[in-house]
Order: sequence, then C-alpha cells, then structure tokens
Amino acid sequence: MDLLIKNGTIVTASEMFKADIAVQDGKIVEIGSNLNIPAAKVVDAEGKLVLPGAIDAHTHLEMPFGGTTSADGYGSGTRAAACGGTTTVFDFAMQDFDENMVDTVKRRDALCAPVAAVDYAFHVGVKDVHGDLLASMKEAVDFGVPSFKVFMVYDFGVSDGVFYKVLEQSKEIGALIAVHAENNEMVNMLVEKYISEGKTDAWHHYLSRPEFVEEEADKRAIAWAESLDAPLYIAHLANKGGVEAVSKAKEQGYHIYAETCPQYLEFTCDVYKREDGRNFVCSPPMKGKDSQDALWAAIKRGDIDTIATDHCPFLQSEKDWGINDFRKIPNGCAGIENMYPYMLAKANAGVLPFTKVVELCSANPARLFGCKQKGSLSVGKDADIVIYDPEKDFTVTCGNMHSDYDHTVWEGYSMHGYPVQTYSRGRLVYDNGEFVGEPGWGKFVKRSLR
Ligand code: URP
Ligand code: ZN
Ligand code: ZN
Repeated sequence: MDLLIKNGTIVTASEMFKADIAVQDGKIVEIGSNLNIPAAKVVDAEGKLVLPGAIDAHTHLEMPFGGTTSADGYGSGTRAAACGGTTTVFDFAMQDFDENMVDTVKRRDALCAPVAAVDYAFHVGVKDVHGDLLASMKEAVDFGVPSFKVFMVYDFGVSDGVFYKVLEQSKEIGALIAVHAENNEMVNMLVEKYISEGKTDAWHHYLSRPEFVEEEADKRAIAWAESLDAPLYIAHLANKGGVEAVSKAKEQGYHIYAETCPQYLEFTCDVYKREDGRNFVCSPPMKGKDSQDALWAAIKRGDIDTIATDHCPFLQSEKDWGINDFRKIPNGCAGIENMYPYMLAKANAGVLPFTKVVELCSANPARLFGCKQKGSLSVGKDADIVIYDPEKDFTVTCGNMHSDYDHTVWEGYSMHGYPVQTYSRGRLVYDNGEFVGEPGWGKFVKRSLR
C-alpha cells in the first residue's frame, strides 16, 4: 500500500466515524477499523479529522480583467489552494470574441497544465454565440467541460436574449449554466449618478450595486430558467431577496442552485467605509447584515448548495488606481487558501456541522459539476484528503499565505482549527504550513453531467 492514514475521524457529507484509510495508486482502496496493511507511508491522525479535499468551483486565475490580470497565476493559485485544503480548482476560461469554446479551453489548459499543483477543471465564460459558436458549447461538453458562466454585467456581459439562448442550449446538451446576476443598466445609471455628484469612494461602489440590483437580476435569471425548466447555478449569491427567490424556486421543484462565498458570510458592506475599503471591492459587493444573516440561514436549511471563493486578487498598486474613483478599482478579492479553513473553523466553533461543510465545499460541487472521482472519502474515489487539527490556532497574514498577491482581505483573521496536511491523489502537497507539491502534478478533470 502507498499510504495508510490511521486513527483519524473521517468526515463525509452525512457522517463522522473513526476509521483508517488505505491508498494505492492515487485511489482510496479501503476504509475500515484497525486496518493492518503494510504501507510505504503510515500517518497517525489520532485526534484529527480526515476530510475530502475541497473543490473550489469558482476562481479567476491569471484572468485579464479590470485593465490588468489577476495576481495569482495557475501555478501560485493552485499552490495556495493546496495549502488551504482545496484539491480541485475550477477556473473560468474566458472565451474570446469569435472563438470556438473548445479552443478557449485548450488555450487556457496550455497555461495551466504545466504548472498546476492540484487537479483543475474549467467553466467557459461565454461572450459570443453568433453563427457556429453556440454549437461549440456541445463540443466543450464532449471535451469534458459541461459548465458555462454568463455575465449579466461588465463590458463583455451578454444580452438577455443571448443568456436565454445559452440556457435553452444547455438543456439539450446536458450542461449547467452559472450566472453572474446584477442589473447592468441599473449599475451604469447609479455609477454615472454618483460620479457626477463627486461621490467617488469605495462606499459608492456598494451604493451603485446595492441589494435590489442583484435581487432583480437573480429573479429575472430564475424566471427564464423556470420557463425552460433548465437548471441554473447562481454564482456568488450575496443578497437576501435573491436567497428568498432561490428558496421559492427550490420549493417549487425547479433545479435552481446557489453558491455563496466566505467573504459574504464574514464581511458586510461596512468594509467599504474603511480607509482600505477599495481592497474589498468585488462584484457583487458585500451587502448589509440582513443579507448576511439570510445567507447563513439558507446554508442551515439547505438552500445554498455550494461555497466557493470567486478568488480574483489584484495587487495593492492596482487597487490603488481607484483611490479617488471607484470605477478604476479592479473587481475581486483573494480567498482560495481561506475557504475550507474558514468554513471548518465555523464548524469547529459549533456554527454548523462538519458534515455540512463537506457537503457545501466538496460533495455538492463534485455532484453538480460532474466530478465523478471527487467529493467524498469512499472506496474508488481519488485520494484527495485533508487532515485537520481542531486544536491548531492560525491567524491569516499575507506572509503565511502561498499566493502571489501582496495583501488579503483576510489579513488578521484568526481561526481555532486548521488543516495540517493535504494529499492530492495520494501525494502529499501541503505539510504543516509548507507547500510540498510539484508544479505540473495537477491534472485536467474531464467531467460529465450525464
Ligand atoms: O469581483 C469579482 N467577482 N471579480 C471576478 C469576476 C466575477 O464577477 O466573478
Ligand atoms: Zn461574477
Ligand atoms: Zn467570479
């Protein structure tokens, strides 16, 4: 046997139990009590939790955006993921105009494959479906990329008609569409209004994208999905009205799924009043306390399906472009190394069960996005394993993270409990604060939803 993890408490999405795990050739081959199997490496996990690696279904690595490129490349982003217990990273491969979507994936894979430290998958960020390009969605599905994101905002956002066409197509080809839902016209109108009034600070980034701007777009997107009975995944859900709309759609039996992110669970729009408020600028922005409470309540009743990071960091010098004009702040924050530790620390503090964290951060993203080898500790699955010490104290600083950014919104955030080891397909990639993996180890995860 290659690896035997003994005496730990295994956490799945439904139960916790004491058992040993045996790994051979990157797969889990046996789980049981007191396994007595000779192994090249034996790890004693007494007093520790043993969890499936997290799947971060929403990151933007090396992404050209906001007049620059996000600060983590595929190498540093996946390295940081490993050090935060994330063993599969989904990145958005943004389509160029007039580009076949398989070419989009291949273009980004050529950058990612040589340096990825953990396994990775892509969603295609759809910009253009004219002519044959709509049909290239099916080619992407056949290539192992059955998920796409449409943006209702930004200069590359799609029209309502294109969004509807993409949804319609997704039903036929067995794909899942994710949406960035904010009302673009309202955003543009409010931005213009505040700028003309000389209101240019980060607080006015929030005021130009307040709760109703997101809620209205959530409802519109859900209405179209319902009209087609097509599945829809609301990315980075942050507002209370949107949460209510998702709950209602689920109750009525529609396949509407929702993702939220740790930054919305931890911070409120008050951060935009801080001197460093620009560092928290992302879209949708953090919302008010009512929205934050609604997100936590939805997690507890099962109406939030996944937690992901929307990791999209920028350098301080780039965030500073917008000190006097919020429009110039590149949108996005760091989080790839913080998601699993943050959620597990909440479980350790009794806010939610550990099993729920596994469901949100690993089992559900694997199921919804068709990662059949991932998302649980069970025989036959990839040995993507995290060992978690519930007694280890950890405070985030930019210096003890493993990204290429130079600041983080999580600076100074303290947790009781922290991952101590991460295994990717049985290989140790993170060990007590150190990245011990290898660029190029990570493999493309071919997926299917059928
Ligand atoms: O501000 C954000 N979220 N930046 C990344 C792009 C997106 O909208 O997901
Ligand atoms: Zn988005
Ligand atoms: Zn995003």
